[in-house]
Amino acid sequence: MDTLLQARTKELFFYSPYNFIRVIDQQKQIQNIVIPTLIGNKNIETSISVQGKQHLFFHEYLAWDTAFFNLPTYKLKTVLFNHRDVSIIALAIKEFVTSTIPEGAYLFIEIPSEDILLIQALGSAGFKLVETRLNYFRGNLENFNEPRFPVRRATIADTDNLKRVAREMRNDYDRFHADTTFNVELADEFLSKYIEESLKGFADVVLTPNEPAIPSDSFLTAKFFKNEWDLLGKNVSKMVLSAVSNKTNKGWYAKLISEMTYLLRDEGAEFIHLNTQSTNRAVFYTWEKLGYRLGSSTHVLSLTNNK
Ligand SMILES: CC(C)(COP(=O)(O)OP(=O)(O)OC[C@H]1O[C@@H](n2cnc3c(N)ncnc32)[C@H](O)[C@@H]1OP(=O)(O)O)[C@@H](O)C(=O)NCCC(=O)NCCS
Repeated sequence: MDTLLQARTKELFFYSPYNFIRVIDQQKQIQNIVIPTLIGNKNIETSISVQGKQHLFFHEYLAWDTAFFNLPTYKLKTVLFNHRDVSIIALAIKEFVTSTIPEGAYLFIEIPSEDILLIQALGSAGFKLVETRLNYFRGNLENFNEPRFPVRRATIADTDNLKRVAREMRNDYDRFHADTTFNVELADEFLSKYIEESLKGFADVVLTPNEPAIPSDSFLTAKFFKNEWDLLGKNVSKMVLSAVSNKTNKGWYAKLISEMTYLLRDEGAEFIHLNTQSTNRAVFYTWEKLGYRLGSSTHVLSLTNNK
């Protein structure tokens, strides 16, 4: 495996969610984040040889998604190989799917734009593009100096209301709504479930407006990722999921992002990152207004194994 790993080091670096934070050492990102996430832990390794060339596939079975969507769901993490023949990689992918993924099961991958050879091979093997993501970030947090807004930490008592907001504020271009594999109402329910789990502890913090004149019909979740701070040598946190009611809370998105920036800074973050679809203009307009910058782009591709 070492030779294959070596051959793919350049592309593997871009699988790090922090690849655009240039003050974080590249080797630390590869060794401490990329390799454990893609290759170690719960990932299953499958070797496929085509025309004498070896390909190592790393994938994970997602039990929670499988139960929720009633659809066997697998996440392909990456593929290792040591050549540049796209048609051979495509043949290996087809062989991997036929031999390893059950009939009718669903397989997806999030892949950085820089892994363009594998993107082309996945397309040739029948994967379809369902989402393009833009990853933004901000450092220099000590200079963040925006006006303050009244917010509070949402609690379990907010669950029903925030589930409703998540369900109602549909984003047609997120992975679940964009992928024709999923029923749109089930995709709404997924996001509604996601905020419920976030309030139960999946997120470290959920912010909501706290203004007497308006209902708390918006949320923004974040994870501190403190467990990774020593591994990276920098403190990086992430804003994750948000929705803002266009009926009662219009314009609150920027206020939540601003307040969460203060909160994460106060928790010790030196950098904050977050992602959205390349279609979500209101979102990246707001981030840029608040000093966030574009860092990288990734794509989500999927395939259902209909033999
Ligand atoms: C995206 C969302 C959070 C925005 O909520 P909001 O605070 O009401 O946003 P607004 O409509 O006030 O737009 C925010 C800013 O973007 C601007 N904007 C809106 N549409 C735009 C467009 N197409 N192009 C550029 N700017 C745009 C607005 O003018 C506003 O800027 P301003 O205050 O300087 O005028 C909300 O629509 C939502 O919940 N959508 C569904 C879920 C979602 O997409 N969540 C984010 C996932 S990362």
